[in-house]
Amino acid sequence: MFPTHRPRRLRSHPQLRRMVQETVVTTNDLIYPLFAVPGESVAQEVSSMPGVYQLSIDKVVEEAKEVYDLGIPAVILFGIPTEKDTDATGAWHDHGIVQKASTAVKEAVPDLIVIVDTCLCEYTQHGHCGYLETGDLTGRVLNDPTLELLKKTAVSQAKAGADIIAPSGMMDGFVQAIRAGLDEGGFEDIPIMSYAAKYSSAYYGPFRDAAESAPQFGDRRTYQMDPANSREAIKEIELDIAEGADMLMVKPALAYMDIIWQVKQASNLPVAAYNVSGEYSMVKAAALNGWVDEEKVVMETLMSFKRSGADMILTYHAKDAARWLG
Ligand code: PBG
Ligand code: ZN
Repeated sequence: MFPTHRPRRLRSHPQLRRMVQETVVTTNDLIYPLFAVPGESVAQEVSSMPGVYQLSIDKVVEEAKEVYDLGIPAVILFGIPTEKDTDATGAWHDHGIVQKASTAVKEAVPDLIVIVDTCLCEYTQHGHCGYLETGDLTGRVLNDPTLELLKKTAVSQAKAGADIIAPSGMMDGFVQAIRAGLDEGGFEDIPIMSYAAKYSSAYYGPFRDAAESAPQFGDRRTYQMDPANSREAIKEIELDIAEGADMLMVKPALAYMDIIWQVKQASNLPVAAYNVSGEYSMVKAAALNGWVDEEKVVMETLMSFKRSGADMILTYHAKDAARWLG
């Protein structure tokens, strides 16, 4: 009548638990997102993301130093330009906000890896991730004209010193187009981290406040994936691998751990999970109310991303996590 198997034996002592622990989170796993805005000495907190700021380039540099000193290997940069237009000029201009921020960070902290988000939504007045016919209010994003702009954007970002290009717009063929552009430009050693399986998600809400990139009409469902689909994620990653992606990203992360797991099984490339803005804001809101233990909840979540197959995690919690990890 008594149990033959007693798994509790291996849980009986803290040291024994350490010995059988399967997954570890380290500071090496973390990537910290930063939002660059024009101006000087600007640090504007994003109201829906306590602890996250829009920063002018001088402040981005200060933050990059702090991130590096905490042992975090990489940042991902987003830019908010002064002007937005149909051609997303601010995205691909050699003196665009992200280009200037990349150069400044690499000058100040050369050993910090600078990843740049390559997309148009922050730079178009309509807030869509691609090119629209002028005056088109239906939100029909034209795929192939967008590829040309993304190619230009990636090359200018690489020229500015970016170490990794991370296209996030979910256009068909964007990895191939960007790879070709980088190779033609002499940047054949710059890797591409593709937002390969990116879902059309309500969890991006607070980010769109931070990046001022909400679509002004319609939504992103003609290019981002339907949350109902998982086989389609495999199709997307297979295409990106064939087109030359060096790393794959799954986004969002929390409600999509099954996708992280499947992508890990289906490929041999490093897998990144994007612990997105809405996931961050929910934890922050609950923690500020005293309803959850922030450190424990965050570390459990990060651990779970790794257990489900993530090799790296883009997260707004990165600085806190690095401090908690000591
Ligand atoms: C833009 C982009 C988005 C995020 C990263 N790049 C949002 C979107 O598609 O609107 C989301 C990041 C987050 O929510 O933290 N292509
Ligand atoms: Zn976009």
